[in-house]
Amino acid sequence: MEYKKILTGVKPTGDPHIGNLYGAILPAINMANKSDAESYIFIANIHALNGVKDPEFLRDKTYEVAATFLAFGLDINKTVFYRQSDIPEVFELTSIIMNYSPKGLMNRAHAYKAILERDGNDDNVNMGLYTYPILMAADILVMQSDIVPVGLDQKQHIEIARDIANSFNSVHKAQVLTLPTEFIEHQDSILGLDGRKMSKSYNNTIPLFTTEEDTKKRIMKIPTDSLLPTDKKNEDCLLYRLMKMFNVDTDYMQHFLDGGIGYGDAKKVLAETVNTYLRPYREKYNELMSDKSKIDEALAIGAKKARAVASKTLYDVKKTLGLV
Ligand code: TRP
Repeated sequence: MEYKKILTGVKPTGDPHIGNLYGAILPAINMANKSDAESYIFIANIHALNGVKDPEFLRDKTYEVAATFLAFGLDINKTVFYRQSDIPEVFELTSIIMNYSPKGLMNRAHAYKAILERDGNDDNVNMGLYTYPILMAADILVMQSDIVPVGLDQKQHIEIARDIANSFNSVHKAQVLTLPTEFIEHQDSILGLDGRKMSKSYNNTIPLFTTEEDTKKRIMKIPTDSLLPTDKKNEDCLLYRLMKMFNVDTDYMQHFLDGGIGYGDAKKVLAETVNTYLRPYREKYNELMSDKSKIDEALAIGAKKARAVASKTLYDVKKTLGLV
C-alpha cells in the first residue's frame, strides 16, 4: 500500500468477541504489521463519554481493549498505540476546527439524525454526541493520517473529516492538513452461534476472554435438528458451518457428515477447538490484566510518540492562524 499513515480508533465499550476479532482487531493488527506505512491505533475513550458515565467501567474497558490488542500481537514498535485522552493536542485541534465545521454538516451526521428522528427533537442530545464527528476529525487530522480503516458505519465520519481539512486548507490557501481517505473493510459478517451475524445484541457471541466452561456452555446451545448420530448431515447445517469456521479437523468433519458422529459430540469437539485456539491469547491477556503496569508502559510509550507528531501539526495550524 502506498499510503504513508494509517490510523484507526477503537471505542472502549463492550466485551470483545470472535466477530470483533476477525472483523476488526486482527485486520487492524495485520495491516499495521504488514505495511511499510506508519500505523496509529488508539483507544477513543473521550468518544465513549457521551454514553458511558461510570468511571470503573470506562477504566476497565480501556485496559481490556489495550490488553486485547497486545495479547493478539500488536507490536508497539510498529504501531503507535495510545489512549486518546493522553493527547491534549487532539482537544486543542478540536476547538480550532470547530470554526471550520458548519452546523449543517453535523445535522447530517447519521447518529445525530437517528436520535432526532426517534425523539422528534434534539433536546436530549448532548454536545459530545453532536460534535462527535469534529472530535473524530481532530483524531485523524492531528496525526496527518492518509488512510483510515473503518467499518461502513464510520464512512460518513471520515468524509466529514476530509471536508473540515479541505475547508481549513482552502481558507488559508495552504496544504496544512492532510486529507484523509476511508478504507472500508468489507468484512463478511462472522457467523454467530444462532446462525445470524455474530453480535452482542443477538446474544450469540463467543466472547474472547471468558472461561473455557462458559465457551463450552455457549457452544453446547447451538441449535440443531433431530437427526440421529448415524444420519447423514448436511454441509449447510449451522454446527457444520461453525466447525468449518474454526478449522475443526477435516477427517472429523467428514465423519460427522457421513453419519458417524452425533451433535453432542461434535459440539464438544468444536468447543475444545475454540478453547485450544484462544488459550494462549487468554493466558497472555490474563497476564496483562493481572499486572497492568505493562499496559501502562505500552500506552505511555505510544502517547509520547503520538504527542510528538500531534504537536508538530498543532504548531503548523497555530502558525497558519496567527496564534503563534
Ligand atoms: N467512531 C469510531 C467508532 O465508533 C471510533 C473512532 C474515534 C475512530 N475516532 C476515530 C475511528 C478516528 C477511526 C478514526 O468505531
